[in-house]
Amino acid sequence: MTGQRTPTPSEHAANHLVRAAVTAPSLHNSQPWLFAYSDSRVLLYADDTRRLPLADPRGRQQVISCGAALFNLRLAMRHLGFRPTVRFFPDTPEYVPLVQVEWGAYARMTSDETLMHRSMRRRHTHRGPFQAASVPASLIEALRQQAHAEGAGLCAMDDPTSQLRLAALVREAEQLRRNTPAYTAELNRWTRVGDAPRDDGVPAEACAFHPDCTALAGRDFTGLTRHPDTAAPPWKWSTRTGITVLLTTPHDSRQDWLRAGQALQRVLLYAAGHNVAAGFHTQPLEVADLRARVRATVPSGQHPQMILRLGYTNDRVRTPRRPVTDVLARDNGLRPTASTPARWREPRGPARGSRSPAQEVTCAAPPRPGTQRGAEPRG
Ligand SMILES: Cc1cc2nc3c(=O)[nH]c(=O)nc-3n(C[C@H](O)[C@H](O)[C@H](O)COP(=O)(O)O)c2cc1C
Repeated sequence: MTGQRTPTPSEHAANHLVRAAVTAPSLHNSQPWLFAYSDSRVLLYADDTRRLPLADPRGRQQVISCGAALFNLRLAMRHLGFRPTVRFFPDTPEYVPLVQVEWGAYARMTSDETLMHRSMRRRHTHRGPFQAASVPASLIEALRQQAHAEGAGLCAMDDPTSQLRLAALVREAEQLRRNTPAYTAELNRWTRVGDAPRDDGVPAEACAFHPDCTALAGRDFTGLTRHPDTAAPPWKWSTRTGITVLLTTPHDSRQDWLRAGQALQRVLLYAAGHNVAAGFHTQPLEVADLRARVRATVPSGQHPQMILRLGYTNDRVRTPRRPVTDVLARDNGLRPTASTPARWREPRGPARGSRSPAQEVTCAAPPRPGTQRGAEPRG
């Protein structure tokens, strides 16, 4: 006898859910989430030790990242055949879980859910030019409907004037970032160079192209623009930027950010299911004045939460993830502490009692469009 504990069925199930959840995208791959499980539910917390104080002082992008993880968790529960029942907690102090997910009634997965679930491990962030073929309008419309199903908007910047305006705002924000040493230092802390044994942060291999090689300026993770020899891109592929889209929400509360995160992941997985990848350019949304100017470009007047460009690519770079054991603990009524789920600390707020109405959530989707894929010369 080894004395090894046999995992309970609820522990197995929670592992399955959280393994899926952590494949979600997050700002600088910060993976700012923690989970606690019991027989009947999984709680999702934002890990405040993993918030980026300069890029994300309000925690908006942290909650969006958690929302993306939540969508994956919901999808993994659907994969096991159950409908997730999701309860959002109100926006009270930090010690409240963001959300609780309970096991709901049995229901067969839909074909769209199967498609998205299969895309979970293939989805990745692309940094660089896309292939020449553009994403068909029918697929953009389908993505808009996917965002809508999560209570968010998706608007494509398909006319040259709004494209140029948005590109100028991204450039202005990125320049501001590059000229701010404290911000650069924060970015460096989340960039993984060489063989550093880390399972978070953005690896240099994921930044193979110069950040200025398309029409939308990218974050300079590897510091190329700081050296005179590499400050300018050797080649510019402005026509390979892809189609730029904005993800928006009606309001700008913590619930809207969670909604935006779920919509983001739904859009990304549906796109990946049709071989479309996304690049992220959220820099102007981190500066209040620039975010207001981005909002002025949104025809619906909604709040911009994400700026993405979509296109086709054969490049696939895997970013690391922390093991599930680092982020999942048994729910013992207390809040898990950061990165040390074996330890627990007392909750500070009144939070655990505060409730909002439970919602049964499915990933039931609008009709799938006919899609086509054009020729694929490498970018
Ligand atoms: C809220 C949010 C904002 C992001 N902003 C950027 C960005 O501005 N530039 C960028 O290159 N990637 C951005 N990303 C992508 C992350 O860097 C990426 O998800 C993370 O490195 C994990 O890699 P993966 O998406 O390939 O799994 C963002 C992701 C999220 C969720």
